[in-house]
Amino acid sequence: MVLSKTTSQLDESVHSTFASRYVRHSLPRFTMPENSIPKEAAFQIINDELMLDGNPRLNLASFVTTWMEPECDKLIMDSINKNYVDMDEYPVTTELQNRCVNIIAHLFNAPLGDGEAAVGVGTVGSSEAIMLAGLAFKRKWQNKMKAKGKPYDKPNIVTGANVQVCWEKFARYFEVELKEVKLREGYYVMDPEKAVEMVDENTICVAAILGSTLNGEFEDVKRLNELLTEKNKTTGWDTSIHVDAASGGFIAPFIYPELEWDFRLPLVKSINVSGHKYGLVYAGIGWAIWRSKEDLPEELIFHINYLGTDQPTFTLNFSKGSSQVIAQYYQLIRLGHEGYKCIMENCQENAKVLKEGLEKTKRFNIVSKENGVPLVAFSLKDNSSHTEFEVSELLRRFGWIVPAYTMPPNAEHVTVLRVVIREDFSRTLAERLVSDIEKVLQELDNLPSRVRMKLAGSEETAGKHDDVVKKTINDVQKEITATWRKFAADRKKTKGVC
Ligand SMILES: Cc1ncc(COP(=O)(O)O)c(C=O)c1O
Repeated sequence: MVLSKTTSQLDESVHSTFASRYVRHSLPRFTMPENSIPKEAAFQIINDELMLDGNPRLNLASFVTTWMEPECDKLIMDSINKNYVDMDEYPVTTELQNRCVNIIAHLFNAPLGDGEAAVGVGTVGSSEAIMLAGLAFKRKWQNKMKAKGKPYDKPNIVTGANVQVCWEKFARYFEVELKEVKLREGYYVMDPEKAVEMVDENTICVAAILGSTLNGEFEDVKRLNELLTEKNKTTGWDTSIHVDAASGGFIAPFIYPELEWDFRLPLVKSINVSGHKYGLVYAGIGWAIWRSKEDLPEELIFHINYLGTDQPTFTLNFSKGSSQVIAQYYQLIRLGHEGYKCIMENCQENAKVLKEGLEKTKRFNIVSKENGVPLVAFSLKDNSSHTEFEVSELLRRFGWIVPAYTMPPNAEHVTVLRVVIREDFSRTLAERLVSDIEKVLQELDNLPSRVRMKLAGSEETAGKHDDVVKKTINDVQKEITATWRKFAADRKKTKGVC
């Protein structure tokens, strides 16, 4: 089954332009060519096609790192042929991963004794880390219920409706009911009071997000910890917390060191973070860290010895590259606390420049908060003529990739645009983006609204009576909203916002 759609289903061939210096015939698009072609031709054909991809540096949709120092690029290329799982053969790489786990566990205030090793693993990203952490909670809960002689076939997990799609995947793939706290207009994160109300004896954990994907806001983990402690006291349960710090895990320790969200809170048993987001490494690295050995059931760890010595593994995949682990270690020692702090502060400053520029236009409501992930989420004050989706579409013409999406239940009627500020997004670019957004708004102001254009079409058939026209305006508006909502929902189904 092919999950992604190809641009052209009609043309069965891949044509080449400059590669015609080396090959004169087209290549089949979906079957393996019979003959080999020169390496230069293969390079040219692929390189030419890739030119049509967006520019990663202008991809403001993504939290994922798009720039690293050339010295690190060199380390990455030098280790691109090492399979991480061959630990006996590449013991130094394994040692670097272990150092990363320990550094990150200390950053998250894991209660480690002197010389005690942290418990954690490197993963492909936060999604894999979340699957592993979720599995650990599920297994611990099952063991507890079995020991009590109680049913253990209906586990659930409590989250906000703002969770990233990986939590929905976890729930579906590993058969755990996802109990989502609904959002409401103006409040786009999990309400800890409501979350704790939803906890029952079958709840494997409550997942809180440090840096909501939708608007960057940090959820109140401290309050959640307090409320859950009270509930545990009265019920005799021991429901605990996982923190999805995919984005916030490499932000909070540096610019909000006083904020208690991590292992300082007793009920926080595991945390995930994406090394490839504000950990400042290219795509392909995440981390899952547990509070202690007791929080990771031993039976989930596999021991293999056919690659040399005994190797414990707790990952979903077996083979993976070593480059990203090495690159993470590079960033941790190269930047240190000082470097991460400077970069995160700079990102916050640039987010502020962008936010103030947007506010000056008087056309947007800002939906993101000042404290949180450095991003600006905003929606049009008036989207009756033109929508956020049209702003997003027109910005593409300037090269900017700014996603527009609708909020989850019960705030689906709110649409936002989101700009993620990464290290490589400078103040100059922020100012340029504001100026391009202003141009887009002017252009939209001069365009007939989609509603009216549609209406003009329907008037011809529907007649021009006032009541018919009014009804048609409403119908057309509804139709447009429904179309965009479906478009956004389809995108969420396939990719989601990352
Ligand atoms: C809050 C949150 N959790 C999890 C993920 C998934 O992370 P990854 O892309 O590292 O798998 C994301 C991605 O944006 C996210 O924002």
